[in-house]
Amino acid sequence: MSTGIISPPKQREPIVGKPIDRVDGRLKVMGAARYAAEIPQDNIAHAVLIQSTIAKGRIIDIDTSEAEKAPGVLIVITHLNAPKLNSTTDESMVKGKLGEKLVPLQSDEVFYDGQHIGVVVAETLEQAKYAASLVRVSYEEEKPSIEIESESPKAYQPKQFFGSELQVQRGDVAKGFAEAEVKIEQTYTTPIEHHNPMESSASIAVWNGEQLTVYDATQWVIGTRNIVADALGIPEENVCIISHYVGGGFGCKGFTWWHTILAAVAARLVGRPVKLMVTRQQMFTSCGHRSRTIQQLAFGATRDGKLTAIKHVTTMQTAEVDEFIEPCGLTSIKFYAVPNLEVAHNLVRVNTGTPTAMRAPGEAPGMFALESGLDELAYELGIDPVELRIINHADVHPHTGKPWSSKYLKECYQLGAERFGWSHRNPKPRSMRDSDYLIGWGMASATYPGLRSPASAKAQLFADGRVIVSSATHDLGTGTYTIMTQIVADVLGLGVERIEFKLGESSMPVAPVAGGSQSAASVAPAVQGAAQELRSRVIRLAIDDELSPLYGVAQEAISTENGRVFLNNEPSRGETYAELLQRNNLPIVEVEAIANTAASESQQGTDNKVVRICVGKDENSDMQQYAFQSFGAHFVEVRVHPRLGQVRVTRFVSAIDVGRILNHKTARSQILGGITFGLGMALMEETVLDQQSGRFVVRNLADYHVPVQADVSDIDVLFIDKPDPHISKMGVRGVGEIGITGVAAAVANAIYHATGKRIRELPITPDKLL
Ligand code: MOS
Repeated sequence: MSTGIISPPKQREPIVGKPIDRVDGRLKVMGAARYAAEIPQDNIAHAVLIQSTIAKGRIIDIDTSEAEKAPGVLIVITHLNAPKLNSTTDESMVKGKLGEKLVPLQSDEVFYDGQHIGVVVAETLEQAKYAASLVRVSYEEEKPSIEIESESPKAYQPKQFFGSELQVQRGDVAKGFAEAEVKIEQTYTTPIEHHNPMESSASIAVWNGEQLTVYDATQWVIGTRNIVADALGIPEENVCIISHYVGGGFGCKGFTWWHTILAAVAARLVGRPVKLMVTRQQMFTSCGHRSRTIQQLAFGATRDGKLTAIKHVTTMQTAEVDEFIEPCGLTSIKFYAVPNLEVAHNLVRVNTGTPTAMRAPGEAPGMFALESGLDELAYELGIDPVELRIINHADVHPHTGKPWSSKYLKECYQLGAERFGWSHRNPKPRSMRDSDYLIGWGMASATYPGLRSPASAKAQLFADGRVIVSSATHDLGTGTYTIMTQIVADVLGLGVERIEFKLGESSMPVAPVAGGSQSAASVAPAVQGAAQELRSRVIRLAIDDELSPLYGVAQEAISTENGRVFLNNEPSRGETYAELLQRNNLPIVEVEAIANTAASESQQGTDNKVVRICVGKDENSDMQQYAFQSFGAHFVEVRVHPRLGQVRVTRFVSAIDVGRILNHKTARSQILGGITFGLGMALMEETVLDQQSGRFVVRNLADYHVPVQADVSDIDVLFIDKPDPHISKMGVRGVGEIGITGVAAAVANAIYHATGKRIRELPITPDKLL
């Protein structure tokens, strides 16, 4: 029993919330944080994808003879010799989801340009690339179907987007428009966009007998494990997916795409580890994209600014081989308190690969239309755009009538406007100038659902005092490692350097896809719960141990700090975690916690190691009673050159309400990233689809323009930072996607204010302003 001389415990300041540096930052700048394609393997072979160069038709001949003779080639896999693969997926997003149902290399049919039609495996990457260039493919080509005009006779109406109704009516829209004194009716369009993360997708597949390990760039290790197992027809427990670091995802690594499965197929066929990297150009056809959208939006309002009706009809493309929906109208259903509403979504199948979720799918293009339209209405009415939004503020969820779990949107408008100096704005277009430049000020709202899913975490305390907490979650550069470490540090009273948080392995306790901005909201309560349970078990151990200085004292009388358990009012009476465990011959104390499940779904572990905490999905729980949504407001200044059409964004203020902020530095970085993404969407990003050939003619970062540092000015991010009292004990909603929403509208509105030109077609390139 060692007590030693120690100073009394100071009231410890919480680490949660502090803008501490990333715990993985040092590893990253040292190059020691290894991404999927960087994991070393002995005897590795390299796979290269061959993709179709037509958008519709049939392969009539695929001649691999030259390629097979090329130096270093191990195998060329095509539909003529590929093993049978299965297409299974789970639309409920519990098990996993394929990005595209079409199974590659199973037939001679071609449905889009860039479809996988072969894999070459060789000793080196260069040999594989060279051999792939020798494969000769002849096609019987048909004219692809590409058009998605809004009146397309081929359009159909999908019912749901992951549980949300897509064709929605409320009240009487015709009556609402009849009552309107002012009406705005416009069409807004957004182009095809691509995610373009810094790290392109990559997989290394390693077989060890029947056991498959895939090092993969993925936002969903558990989903990928299940989908890979299904595709190959092997048990899930035979597959392990590892993804410790991900260099951005934005949705294109959320579902499982076929290159990962093809890497596993190739590795099995050659009997060696295989690395398959999707090239930057292949990323444009292999991992989804954001659909082009045509949005017809109508507002009816009274002269004093009260909305009487909204109609929002979106037509967008999806693929011939699968379906994904960009649900632009979902925000319109819930954002403003309007009694009469119609939201519709139309899909047209075209010959491209399947679109997928891209940062705020639905909200990003949908808010461009909604928040541009509201600005148009504000001008029509002569009401300040902020004021008009406050007039139509939804105090409760306007469709379900449920109260919001917490909502500080009005505070966001106020904070943002004050910081920006909005009250000094002269609303007249072209009224502000600086020498040659037209200055414009615009604003728009931001919003994203407050999602969460069941998640679990394991906490382990070792006899040497080390703590490891793990969960099969992900860090896409977002800060997950850091925020989870902060949570554990506060619960256990340890410095962050004494805690190791592990993630990104499918064998770890279940966590959801790192999509829908839900990782913090889902996993943080599980991590907190596991750490709290670990702490109370350690305290109980001390209380029950006759040899402990804390034997028999009341639980409430005990504190933990700096790796010690001790008496609150007599800090010298206590011991370290290590002393306690070692004396009890316990190499480890381990506990697992599950959050956000219904009681009926709880899994009480047989060894009593698993506890269920934060019950969320039960009938009468908060999850059912409240509407969870994050909110924000963007204020932006642009300078437009009247003769060059060049737009510079010179000031940006965002006020954001996402519940509690776990780390002000990483959260701010998320918003900065989202806004930067939004600036790209507003001014630059567009993937051009050639109408004749059905090919994307933009497929590299030279042609696909994204903002660089010089395009991004000073961005001021203000957080409300009030815990959401109903989402979890942590009070945190997600922060990944809200940043992009509303940005394109805020910029377009500022450009209108600067120039008097209302651009309803993204991106707002200089030609549209001349
Ligand atoms: Mo996000 S597009 O849900 O990864």
